Amino acid sequence: MPPRREKFGFGTRAVHAGEEPNLKATGDVVSPIHMSATFARRDVDRPTGGLEYSRTGNPTRIALEARLASLECAKHALAFSSGMAAETTLMLSVLSKGSHVVAGDDLYGGTVRLFEKTLRKFDVNITYVDTRRPSAVRNAIKGTTKMVWLESPSNPLMHVCDIRAISKVASEAGAMTVVDNTFASPYIQNPLELGATVAVHSTTKYIGGHSDVVGGALMLSDPELFEAVKFNQNAVGAVPSPFDCFLVLRGSKTLHLRMQRHSENAAVVAEFLSVHPKFSGVHYPGLKVHPQYALARRQMRLPGGMLSAELKGGFQQVRKLFGRLRIFSVAESLGGVESLVENPATMTHASVPRERREKIGIGDGLIRFSVGVEDPSDLVADLRSALA
Ligand SMILES: Cc1ncc(COP(=O)(O)O)c(C=O)c1O
Repeated sequence: MPPRREKFGFGTRAVHAGEEPNLKATGDVVSPIHMSATFARRDVDRPTGGLEYSRTGNPTRIALEARLASLECAKHALAFSSGMAAETTLMLSVLSKGSHVVAGDDLYGGTVRLFEKTLRKFDVNITYVDTRRPSAVRNAIKGTTKMVWLESPSNPLMHVCDIRAISKVASEAGAMTVVDNTFASPYIQNPLELGATVAVHSTTKYIGGHSDVVGGALMLSDPELFEAVKFNQNAVGAVPSPFDCFLVLRGSKTLHLRMQRHSENAAVVAEFLSVHPKFSGVHYPGLKVHPQYALARRQMRLPGGMLSAELKGGFQQVRKLFGRLRIFSVAESLGGVESLVENPATMTHASVPRERREKIGIGDGLIRFSVGVEDPSDLVADLRSALA
């Protein structure tokens, strides 16, 4: 990985960026939650302190956006009310009638739903390819391609894609590369440092980290693109509340600590499952048998807290196992301190048509694990007894 460009280390930026105490005023060490919807003016034609109305800008959101930009080594960040709001606002800013998108074939189901059910209505065309192969991306690009959209690691199959190679292919064709970096988090991987144009996050996940807030963000450095997306952040208005900005700011302070523990725990769970006779395949970039293990070592600082594994016997066995777990909760979402399991075929990816799911390898018995920061021995004991 290239060295981080910023002066301070990740942990220091996670704790301080965007929240330096204002010693000329009250000296708060934590950015106050500015609940004001509007801002009074001293002069009629000039907003006092630059702020007009909280959809357009709010001090707590400004603090959060500064933190998020710093963590992704980006010049700018824009915060949204959800990951989907961030995605929609970016797509509205970049795509128009007749635009073409090359997208990974293993994406979060909600992103596929947005492409298929919403964008296609506006004559946006999408081609899904296996983004593990940069040549597949190159072959799918046409004159109208505006955007290459990928996840790495992908959801739920944990495919690792070469962000540097794909960004090069896209930029040679005049298209931007968007990486949904939710699974890795900015502590583990910085797509902009690898050549991508935009990093997308559901801050609901690792950045927030405590399953108590829904939020999203875009991090980018291109000044024109920033102005276009910022315009639509205000025009569309899918912004987070000041209280939600505070929760994401608070969660993000421990991102570096949590990601280390998530990765350690996920490695223990992956090793356990990979030798368990009831599982037929474990997808985790930290396992040497992962097909892109070498690429993951190059591109990611740690293998992360997410993994998936195929339980033999399909959905009936999944139902039985889920009913017996005591520490892992059966729930959608990921990236919080608590361990979760879910069945993509019936939960997060239920909106993906069965034939597409089967084609790419999302079987009915696939289980996705978001491994939390509990004691690893308790997590393994929970799985062992539920599988017995
Ligand atoms: C990888 C990924 N991207 C985007 C989203 C959408 O984020 P949100 O639920 O905050 O709208 C999710 C949600 O699960 C996700 O897993």
